[in-house]
Amino acid sequence: MNTSHSRGTWGSRSGFILAAAGSAVGLGNIWGFPTQVGQGGGAAFVLVYLICVLLICAPIMVAEIALGRHSRLSPAGAFRNLAPDSSWWIVGALGVATGAGILSFYSVISGWTIAYVWFTATSAVSGNAESVNRFFEAFTSNGIVNLALTSLVLGATATILLGGVRAGIERATKTLMPALIVLLLILAMRAVTLPGAEAGLDYYMRPDLTRLLDVSVFNAALGQAFFSLSLGMGAMITYGSYLGRREAIGTSTVWIVILDTSIALLAGFIIFPAGFSISGFDPTSSGPGLIFTVLPRLFSTIPGGNLFGAAFFLLLSMAALTSTISLLEVPVSHCVDTRGWSRRKAVAIVTGCVFLLAIPSSLGNGAVGLFSDLPIIGGNFLDLMATIWNNFSLPIGGLLTSIFVGRVWHVNRALDELRAEGASFPVAPLWIFLVKWVCPVAIGSIIIATALVTF
Ligand code: PHE
Repeated sequence: MNTSHSRGTWGSRSGFILAAAGSAVGLGNIWGFPTQVGQGGGAAFVLVYLICVLLICAPIMVAEIALGRHSRLSPAGAFRNLAPDSSWWIVGALGVATGAGILSFYSVISGWTIAYVWFTATSAVSGNAESVNRFFEAFTSNGIVNLALTSLVLGATATILLGGVRAGIERATKTLMPALIVLLLILAMRAVTLPGAEAGLDYYMRPDLTRLLDVSVFNAALGQAFFSLSLGMGAMITYGSYLGRREAIGTSTVWIVILDTSIALLAGFIIFPAGFSISGFDPTSSGPGLIFTVLPRLFSTIPGGNLFGAAFFLLLSMAALTSTISLLEVPVSHCVDTRGWSRRKAVAIVTGCVFLLAIPSSLGNGAVGLFSDLPIIGGNFLDLMATIWNNFSLPIGGLLTSIFVGRVWHVNRALDELRAEGASFPVAPLWIFLVKWVCPVAIGSIIIATALVTF
C-alpha cells in the first residue's frame, strides 16, 4: 500500500483547483446538462438541478475532499483505513466500477467531439436542420469510425496517466478554461439574438411547475449534478488525497462549484435559444445528439463559423480529456494501492476492460443494430450505461459517503480536517446539518421513489 510519503502533493492551491475543475468541467456541462434539461422538461429541471447542487452536492464535495486529504489514500483505502474491519471499503470499490462504467460511454461521446472538430472545420456538416440531423445519424451509425475514435480517446487518456505529461495538461486548463468560457459567451450572445430565441429562453427559464410532481425529474437532476461535479465515485477523494494541509477545502469547493455550474448554465443559454430558432425543433426527442445537431446550425449563422466551431469542439475535447483522466485515475490508483500492481500494469488492464465495455456503447447508435434498441428498457446501450451509472450509482455513492462522513468517521473529525492549519470554515453548523440529515434523507428518498415508479 502507498504510504503518505510517497504521494505527491499539488504545487499550490491553484494546482488542485485546476485539476478538480478540469475533472468537473467537461461533457457533463456542455453535452449532458442541455440534453437532460431537454429530456426533463426545461426550466423545472434547471430549478431542481440547482437545489441539488447547493444542498446535496456542495456539502458532499467538501466531505469527499476532506476524506481524501485526511487519509491520503485512494477511495477504497480511505474507507478501509478509517473504518477497519467493516464493509465500508465497498463504497470505494463501487466508485472504481462507476469510474470505469462512466468512462466507457464518456469516451464514445468524447470521440464524437473530436470528429466534429474536423467536420466543422471542413464544413462537412452544414446545410439545413434536416441534413445536419442526417449527418449525425450517419456518422454515429458508422461502427468502425466510432470504435477508432473511442480507442483514440482511451489511448490518449492512458498515455497521459502514464506519461507524466499530466501536470502539463492540467496547467493547460488555466488557458483552456477561460478560452472555452469566452467562446461560450460569444455563442450565447449570438444565440439569444436569433429570431425565435425567446421561445427557447422561455423554455429554459420559466418552469412548468407540474413537472415537479414527476420523480424522474428529481432523479435525473440529482444524477446530473453528481456527474457534472465528479462526485459520488471517489474522484474528489483521490484528488483531495494530493491536496496539502495548508489549503482551505471550503474555499476551493466554492470555486469549483461556481465554475462548473456557471458553465453548465451558460451552455443552456446557447442550446435552447439556438434550438428553438430552428423550425420543428423538439428538445425532448433530440437525445444525445442535441448539441451535435443544434451547434452546427448556430455556427452557420456566424461569419467564419466553421473555424469558430472547430475551435469550440477542440476546446470541448480538451475539457473532456481532463475529465477522462480523473475517471481513469480512480480505478488505476485503486489497483496500485490495493493490489500492488505497477502503474503501467494497472493502466493497461483497466483501459483494456473499459474498452471492452465501451464497444456496445460505441456500436449502438445507429438506427438499427444489436445494441441500439434494447428489450425491456428501450433505448440503446449508451443510454442504459448513462442511466445506471449517473442516475443510480453516483447518487448511491454520494449517499453512502455522506453517511460515512456524518456518522462513521464522524463530522467532528471531518471538521478538524476542514479547519486544519487555521483554515476558516464559517458554515460548519450548516454543513453538519446538510451532511448528516439532508443528504442521506433527500438522496435516499429520491432513489427509493424512482425505484418504486420504475419497477
Ligand atoms: N464531471 C465530468 C463532466 O462533467 C465527468 C466526470 C464524472 C468526471 C465523474 C469524473 C467523475 O464531464
